[in-house]
Amino acid sequence: MKTKYNFFSFFYDLIDTLYFNRKKYSPRTAVLELISNMSTRVLDICAGTGANSLIIAKNKPDARVIALDLSSNMLKIANKKYRKARVENIETLIADACNTSLPDNSFDVVLIALVLHEIEKDMQKAILTEAKRVLSDNGQIIVVEWEQPKGRFQRVMFSLIKMLEPRGFKNFLHTDLSAYFHTFGLSVLEKHSCDYTQVFVLSKK
Ligand SMILES: C[S@@+](CC[C@H](N)C(=O)[O-])C[C@H]1O[C@@H](n2cnc3c(N)ncnc32)[C@H](O)[C@@H]1O
Repeated sequence: MKTKYNFFSFFYDLIDTLYFNRKKYSPRTAVLELISNMSTRVLDICAGTGANSLIIAKNKPDARVIALDLSSNMLKIANKKYRKARVENIETLIADACNTSLPDNSFDVVLIALVLHEIEKDMQKAILTEAKRVLSDNGQIIVVEWEQPKGRFQRVMFSLIKMLEPRGFKNFLHTDLSAYFHTFGLSVLEKHSCDYTQVFVLSKK
């Protein structure tokens, strides 16, 4: 698993170049806009090459962001970007998102972006349970997930994503995610459609 992500780290940023290049409709922009300036403790779970954490840290100087991932290669690329952008309110943590060892109720925002669709059900459960544990009582979990686009051009582009994702991906696309989050004791406060993706804001019930 770790090896797979270490390998993909070299190409991963192509996703932002190819799919999220319209800033106004990008899920990266939506995530940033959904985080209030009062949210100072932000955990980016499975942060990858740090696209979300960078934009948050850059635009919210009062926030302290932790970008957590299992893959050291992903975080190496993230760290390079943070250094280049000279952001200092961010740190990386190599850890398993299922068991982070971070304290209970310690984050205002926990972000889980483009992760759930590519992991097994028991790991989805472990990550959502861990996210809930480290989230403060009034905090929010933000989930970004792929969504089948409607336009013809985007459907063609999306077929490449479908080819690259694991076998259960097509089923995942048909999952009613709002109902799914309810089964973990999470309420959907907001849902937004972006390019190729949907963005959910969740709270503990
Ligand atoms: C598709 S990438 C998503 C990256 C990023 N969140 C984004 O929005 O672009 C999935 C990431 O999840 C990480 N990952 C998968 N399972 C993990 C686990 N159990 N603990 C921590 N990171 C994990 C991988 O290393 C990879 O960087």
